[in-house]
Amino acid sequence: MEFRIDPWSHVMIKEYEKLFQYFGIRPFAEVVDEFKTVAVPHPLMVRGVIFGHRDFNNVVNALKSGERFAIVTGLMPSGKMHFGHKMLIDQIIYYQRLGAEIFLIVADIEAYSVRRIGRKEAVDIALNDYVANYIALGLTKSNLHLYFQSNYSPKYYRLIQMISRKLSLAELRAAYGEDLEVGKVMSVITQIADILHPQIKDFGGFRDVLVPVGPDQDPHLRLTRDVAQRFEGELGLKPPASTYHRFMSGLDGGKMSSSRPESYISLDDDPLTASQKLMRAFTGGRATAEEQRRLGGEPEKCVVYEFYAYHFIPDDAELSKVYQECRTGKVLCGECKLRACEMLVKFLTEHRAKHEKAIDKVYEYVDVPDF
Ligand code: TRP
Ligand code: SF4
Repeated sequence: MEFRIDPWSHVMIKEYEKLFQYFGIRPFAEVVDEFKTVAVPHPLMVRGVIFGHRDFNNVVNALKSGERFAIVTGLMPSGKMHFGHKMLIDQIIYYQRLGAEIFLIVADIEAYSVRRIGRKEAVDIALNDYVANYIALGLTKSNLHLYFQSNYSPKYYRLIQMISRKLSLAELRAAYGEDLEVGKVMSVITQIADILHPQIKDFGGFRDVLVPVGPDQDPHLRLTRDVAQRFEGELGLKPPASTYHRFMSGLDGGKMSSSRPESYISLDDDPLTASQKLMRAFTGGRATAEEQRRLGGEPEKCVVYEFYAYHFIPDDAELSKVYQECRTGKVLCGECKLRACEMLVKFLTEHRAKHEKAIDKVYEYVDVPDF
């Protein structure tokens, strides 16, 4: 059976196990204990939210031997930054605090070419909704390279040009479908350069590069790994490591997607509207209160529980208590949602104040393209 991931579609990836089977992504659980010997893992790592990896052992070994390593990831400046995006930036901040060199990309060329977002709009969204939020969440300037794909240095563009020779149209079509557009090809080779360039001497000459992403990005990673090998003799590039996290579910049980405002809470939603959205969210509750007291709820299926586990309750013991209270029917959804809303309101209120301060600082973090 053919099974292809389209990074630009809005379909939801439901069966994460298939990714092990079809694409050779490895379960993250197999490396987490070894990782614990060198660092305190991020809560998303021990909760199975970061569920898969390729070559994460390389990162563990780099940490063991005290070698510097680099993190590369990025987001498209299209639509609001929501809690699904926040999970990625939380990981970046975690790795920054671990001492990694951070390459964080504003994928404005991808937004322009594939999502057809205007240049000015992309820049405004990038600064206001993404970069300012990154700073508000705790990203600092230390070991940070934050750049727009359209506004970086000449050697990066040279690499993009060179990558064009290493890929055939046939393999691009096999990866992305027959109706491949030139804009998609451009975004793909740009992204490959994003991931590979930190290994080039002028950008740090890193041996180990880790790319934390959602599984929708895996087609790009598979190609990048092939391209790295094709540059072996020429530039001495090595395939990057990667990790994959589960996506948050949409509030309505579908996919959380920037293209559907009813599916997400954005980091700049006003606290009242946000709470109303969360109060209406899809839960793992039963049809009646009586039934839920008897059978307990199903936190595994619950969007509200995801907010706890992915964002609001870093403490494992506290989370486990919420889980038990749900499972045993001790706490019902109404009460549970109110508690989640309290956390949400507190978070959004504090975040708003931090965002306001951060907005003046964005130009210290990133060079802005002039058209
Ligand atoms: N394609 C990613 C997205 O859709 C953005 C991106 C650009 C990226 N360059 C990258 C992700 C490099 C990881 C690594 O949001
Ligand atoms: Fe979700 Fe809470 Fe209801 Fe359990 S009690 S299903 S965690 S809202």
